[in-house]
Amino acid sequence: MKGNTKEKRKKRKRFCLWKWSFGAVAAVYNGIFAYVAAHGKKYTCLLAAFLFFILSSSFSFPVFQDRDLSYMMSDVEYDKNRYPETTGQAAVAMTAQTAEVELLDDADVLDGYEDTELENMENIDKYTLDEILEDSGTAAEEIRETEQTDTEDVVFDKDDWRLLLINKQHPIPEDYTFELGTIKGSMKCDARIIDDLLAMLQAAKDDGIYLVICSPYRDLNRQKVLFDRKVEAYMEKGMSYIDAYKYSSQAVTVPGASEHQIGLALDIVCNTYYSLNEGFGETEAGRWLQEHSHEYGFTLRYPKGKEYITSIEYEPWHFRYVGKEAAAVMKEKGICLEEFIDSL
Ligand code: DAL
Ligand code: ZN
Repeated sequence: MKGNTKEKRKKRKRFCLWKWSFGAVAAVYNGIFAYVAAHGKKYTCLLAAFLFFILSSSFSFPVFQDRDLSYMMSDVEYDKNRYPETTGQAAVAMTAQTAEVELLDDADVLDGYEDTELENMENIDKYTLDEILEDSGTAAEEIRETEQTDTEDVVFDKDDWRLLLINKQHPIPEDYTFELGTIKGSMKCDARIIDDLLAMLQAAKDDGIYLVICSPYRDLNRQKVLFDRKVEAYMEKGMSYIDAYKYSSQAVTVPGASEHQIGLALDIVCNTYYSLNEGFGETEAGRWLQEHSHEYGFTLRYPKGKEYITSIEYEPWHFRYVGKEAAAVMKEKGICLEEFIDSL
């Protein structure tokens, strides 16, 4: 309701500006033509043409440009091919309302959501280590073994699959392929990271922390559903489509540019804290992951304080597999993946 009133006020303001400006322009023309009729001077004709040019040009009407051009394309990622209903110009001209906006976390978005497809998708994929091992036939001892990492003399290769940078500026390459492995049920990820993942879950369990894996691999369709749902939720709060798109893309990567789609990212919570929100970072499990996940090749992908680089809000639950060596360097230097790649 509040959003609608605001929108109506904006429209009225725009209409008044148009009305008064049109009146002023008409008065000027009327004066010029009256003068020409009375004196017939050639300079007057030139002046009239010049005035016509000035007044007809768009740069003479900044009052009508109800846009704040301070946003750069890199701030607000926009995919013209996937979201053709938004024009490129509109994407550049997104307006900021940062002071008033409360970012929605995933729980806000899913609360009361009627779409059974999405509800099921969200409910199915949550497993602890014991549940994962239940029917896999793997004994805990088998997954304990994990090699120690020595980062000295390691030469990193930018083309290493583990270091593939995926973000809004670097969407998933069209020819990227990988083998999906099953963690349990419908829960999948890149097959090459499962051993390290299980080793991490087991190590946490040994320390009395019961990690819960949710939302590992997502296909494009699922990422789209999550993204669109987030946009809808913001719009239901009275936000314009453009603003809703901007805020959504700070929490859910635009479809086609999510690490979840390449099976190298997992959302991890614990048996006492299931919410994907900042609070998880303060839990024992959140702290354990921040301290130990690099030993198993994972990095906290969207750390606090690096939002200006990642363009994603702090997500203490989102971990990305980069390999033990790179994860150790990133942990030691306190840098995120973008910074690590830049340093190579
Ligand atoms: N939540 C992370 C940023 C994603 O959607 O990929
Ligand atoms: Zn995630």
